[in-house]
Amino acid sequence: MVKAIYPGSFDPPTKGHVDIVTRACALFEKITMGVYDAPPKDILFSTRERVELLQEAVSHLPNVEVRPFSGLVVHLAHQVGAKVVVRGLRPGYDFDYEFEMALMNRKLDPDIEIVVLMSALEYQFISSSRIKEVAQLGGNVEDFVPKNVLPALKAKLQAPVSQTGGKVSSKWISAV
Ligand code: COA
Repeated sequence: MVKAIYPGSFDPPTKGHVDIVTRACALFEKITMGVYDAPPKDILFSTRERVELLQEAVSHLPNVEVRPFSGLVVHLAHQVGAKVVVRGLRPGYDFDYEFEMALMNRKLDPDIEIVVLMSALEYQFISSSRIKEVAQLGGNVEDFVPKNVLPALKAKLQAPVSQTGGKVSSKWISAV
């Protein structure tokens, strides 16, 4: 059986991510979820927090491990002996983005194969940013995030900027 990695920002992990890795589990011997430490977007949770949230959210899946990574996705694949990069695909915008990323990753390492799983119907319209926005405005996001993420999200959005370790974007933090 083949090993795979599933890289992402996971800020925070969503039920959409858990759905993808759960389905990927049936296809691969082992899956390493790589939490990218420096995504080019406004981040709410530190890398350590994202790793911990994800570890708890997928702790019921025996062949999944979670680790932080920096640098290229293809280097992470080499480090863990994986030949496949798993990604989830939602309708619309995701296709061009994923296609471009897949081509670049194949160019960087032609031995790597990209496997894309279609997002489950109920999670096609969610993203981590949308969830943060709705939660920040007081909306209920419990249908979209794993159980352990909900309290973490609430606590983080209410924390003063000084308690975020200074690494996360103040965009998401409400002043108290
Ligand atoms: N259900 C719901 N939402 C989903 C989803 C699913 N199944 N799959 C993805 N999403 C959402 C995420 O929540 C995220 O939302 P956000 O943009 O609002 O935060 C968005 O789709 C993007 O997904 P994510 O999986 O977090 O990936 P990313 O676009 O943040 O990319 C890496 C992260 C790690 C893959 C990318 O930055 C990378 O490859 N970095 C390493 C450097 C490198 O190798 N560069 C060259 C690569 S070509």
